Amino acid sequence: MRRLLLIGIGAGHPEHVTVQAVGALNRVDVFFVIDKGLDKVDLTSLRTEICARYVEHDRYRIVEIGDPPREREAPAYRSAVEDWREQRAQLLERAIAGELPEDGCGGLLVWGDPSLYDSTLAVVERILARGEVAFEYEAIPGITSVQALAARHRIPLNRVGGEVRITTGRRLREGLTPADEDVVVMLDSECSFKGLPAEEFDIYWGAYVGTPEEILIGGPLAEVGGRIEQARARARAAKGWIMDTYLLRRR
Ligand SMILES: C[S@@+](CC[C@H](N)C(=O)[O-])C[C@H]1O[C@@H](n2cnc3c(N)ncnc32)[C@H](O)[C@@H]1O
Repeated sequence: MRRLLLIGIGAGHPEHVTVQAVGALNRVDVFFVIDKGLDKVDLTSLRTEICARYVEHDRYRIVEIGDPPREREAPAYRSAVEDWREQRAQLLERAIAGELPEDGCGGLLVWGDPSLYDSTLAVVERILARGEVAFEYEAIPGITSVQALAARHRIPLNRVGGEVRITTGRRLREGLTPADEDVVVMLDSECSFKGLPAEEFDIYWGAYVGTPEEILIGGPLAEVGGRIEQARARARAAKGWIMDTYLLRRR
């Protein structure tokens, strides 16, 4: 029976890879790497570097799979995501059927952890539901960008007995409730904190956390919000892409 391992590799630092993940990496015969295009070339190369650094044998192969284009601003965002997942499922299904031997072990390196804003688990379930190719699979946890951000700012995410909300820039723009005291924001291409009453929040922001290009800015939102916007725009222009996350803490 074919087996697939979905391995969380952490959020950018090669040493985020856990001992459990190293064990899993060493079981893999074929790594399926989704090629996200030239602007994400650094992300693909971190994946290859992780294989080279931690896999102790040379019997593995890397199979690259093209990533279907996704319409991010489509009015029907959910159905755009559904279409994209279906296309990705078909591409991966074809690669598994064509490249992974019947008793082989395939590996998918998942950025951060598979449980957080990642489609790999859903795509794999979709392939199984299609019924064209059979396999067993396991998920191996990784360090999320949220944990990496908190560690670099040396802050806990919650306050005593408190709650933490994890959301997206898109949802943040719909507004917060007074119950939202500590809010982690991911997938925000628009600095959506701009819409908040700045004097009510502190912000702990990080871009490329864990990588050599890491940028960290923290403090009262009213004081550092503008600096974050400028740093973000500069870094994005210089590198061509950016990944940033932040915690908003109600004062
Ligand atoms: C598709 S989600 C993937 C999240 C990932 N599964 C995790 O566990 O962190 C991508 C978002 O994660 C955040 N992110 C991932 N890596 C990051 C990093 N190294 N620094 C800052 N934010 C990061 C950004 O908010 C980015 O928009």
